[in-house]
Amino acid sequence: MDNFTFCNPTKLVFGKGQIKEIENLIPKNKNLMLTFGGGSVKENGVYNQVVTALKDHDFIEFWGIEPNPKIDTLKKAITIAKKKDINFILSVGGGSCLDGTKLIAAGIKYDGDAWDLVLKGYSADSVDFASVMTLPATGSEMNRGAVISNADTKEKYPFYSRCPVFSVLDPETTYSLPDYQISCGIADTFVHVTEQYLTYPNQSRIMDRWAEGILISLLEIAPKIKNNKKDYDLMSDFMLLATMALNGFIGMGVAQDWATHQIGHVITALHGITHAETLTLLHCGLLKTMKEQKKEKLLQYAERVWNISTGTDDEKIKEALNKTETFFKSLGLATRLGEKNIGNDTINEVANRFTAQGRKAGEGHNITGEVVRQILENCK
Ligand code: NZQ
Ligand code: ZN
Repeated sequence: MDNFTFCNPTKLVFGKGQIKEIENLIPKNKNLMLTFGGGSVKENGVYNQVVTALKDHDFIEFWGIEPNPKIDTLKKAITIAKKKDINFILSVGGGSCLDGTKLIAAGIKYDGDAWDLVLKGYSADSVDFASVMTLPATGSEMNRGAVISNADTKEKYPFYSRCPVFSVLDPETTYSLPDYQISCGIADTFVHVTEQYLTYPNQSRIMDRWAEGILISLLEIAPKIKNNKKDYDLMSDFMLLATMALNGFIGMGVAQDWATHQIGHVITALHGITHAETLTLLHCGLLKTMKEQKKEKLLQYAERVWNISTGTDDEKIKEALNKTETFFKSLGLATRLGEKNIGNDTINEVANRFTAQGRKAGEGHNITGEVVRQILENCK
């Protein structure tokens, strides 16, 4: 296990009716801005719960942070926030709203063009922010990450700042999610775990077991959620699984991959495909391409997560990858580039971008543009 320092300062406030707690969690002397997406929170009653809880607070509202939050939208919010001297932001919505909020919070403290912060990849300074999270998927409610898009240049990059001060997770807020977003949330959570787990063997027993626990739980709840979208206990498990997959707990002291995500961000930037579906398109092809490097861990995954106990090592791994693809398909998500009409032009563009930027992704720092090309060929 590698050396590490672990600190996750986000206060997690979990459960039915907990949105009312924001009244006590946000100091009344703050200049408060609420940020929202496109309006789902008005339809499902979350907005009403928030403004009722904040009846004794002063606040302004910023609406319109879109999925794959765009820098131009966020710059508008930064301009307003600077004028109003905003020093606390509450994101009410999904991961995109919260990711956008992280950039706004940093942009308030920055005098230059906020896109600089994204290109730099991090900001040490930002105003306080927190969330009411309505979509289990990204883990953004308890991590430092955000992913920001630029529609003009067709780019999408991660950006790191601080963890939210607090996040309220009420599983009842997920009852209004469309089936597609539930599937995407399950797939995103699954791949967040495998990005941290399917690397090198024998690094940490506890990280392995926690990761396997999340994967097995997801496989167990996914078919049940299909017919029980309003089952409180199922949606509670789903919500907490998504948080635990990407709040640092399963990544302590172990190597991490993240190449599927990095390639996926380019595909979203070029084609607008939803984040999680880029992962289901790419993940099995990546695992197949990197099979030799990941062999021992893939075997462990086959045996412990999929209970595959017969056959040669290669046969077990092949079966595990087939089962993984079948699982993604069972969620109704695409698993091959052809299903999304992605062909050689995109393969060239993505590979060339990796080469031009000198990127070396993956736990072995060996996924260059040429390896990206092989991965994409294996996803056809
Ligand atoms: O915009 P509104 O009207 O709120 O509707 C949203 C949006 O259309 C809707 N929605 C959210 N909660 C709902 C709901 N509809 C009904 N009921 C609810 N309870 O769902 C749609 C998608 O929302 P979005 O926030 O875009 O989804 P998600 O949470 O999956 O976020 C995706 C973004 O997060 C980034 C992705 O790249 C993408 O940009 N990621 C962020 C990460 C992080 N911060 O650590 C890690 C991830 O790997 C990911 O890359
Ligand atoms: Zn993701």
